[in-house]
Amino acid sequence: MSEDLKRDIKRINSQLVKLRLAIKEFRNKHQMLYPGLLDGAPNVPRPELLTNCRILNDRHEIIRHLPGALAEVGTMYGDFIVRVIDISQPAEVHLFDYRRNNIRPENKLKLDGYGNVKYYVGDSSENMAKMPNEYFDVIYIDANHSFDGVWKDLMQAIKKD
Ligand SMILES: C[S@@+](CC[C@H](N)C(=O)[O-])C[C@H]1O[C@@H](n2cnc3c(N)ncnc32)[C@H](O)[C@@H]1O
Repeated sequence: MSEDLKRDIKRINSQLVKLRLAIKEFRNKHQMLYPGLLDGAPNVPRPELLTNCRILNDRHEIIRHLPGALAEVGTMYGDFIVRVIDISQPAEVHLFDYRRNNIRPENKLKLDGYGNVKYYVGDSSENMAKMPNEYFDVIYIDANHSFDGVWKDLMQAIKKD
């Protein structure tokens, strides 16, 4: 083994040790908030929950399989949702965002023309909390990308689909 390779392996190893320590520290600090997170091996879903499971390689492929009532959490310019409408015509579209006026005029035209579109302006997790439980068929979370932001949206979404 060359000296160069040995040096690289040693460097990666020391980074991994730091990562393990950081994970351990995170787990100790946030255990009450995020029980089970990064705590041992991930839970594997029960076999019956995987019966109709499919692996799709990106979000554009996922669009082809979106039925029923769809929520997009974080809409921004409306680029993704108009693609969803073009491809899969969901029965209902519910858009959650702080702002409605970021939607591009051409996307707005399309959304207005589609008809079955509702807007929820304000904090996404707060507005999602007001929705009836088990309402949605699909919830696409793409708003605040921080850990806490995604967590808050996710904690609401799991009750609503
Ligand atoms: C990544 S963009 C969404 C992009 C869009 N899904 C797409 O693919 O075209 C994130 C959007 O989430 C919104 N956002 C971020 N945090 C939010 C929050 N807590 N509540 C509501 N909207 C939020 C922002 O205003 C922004 O428009």
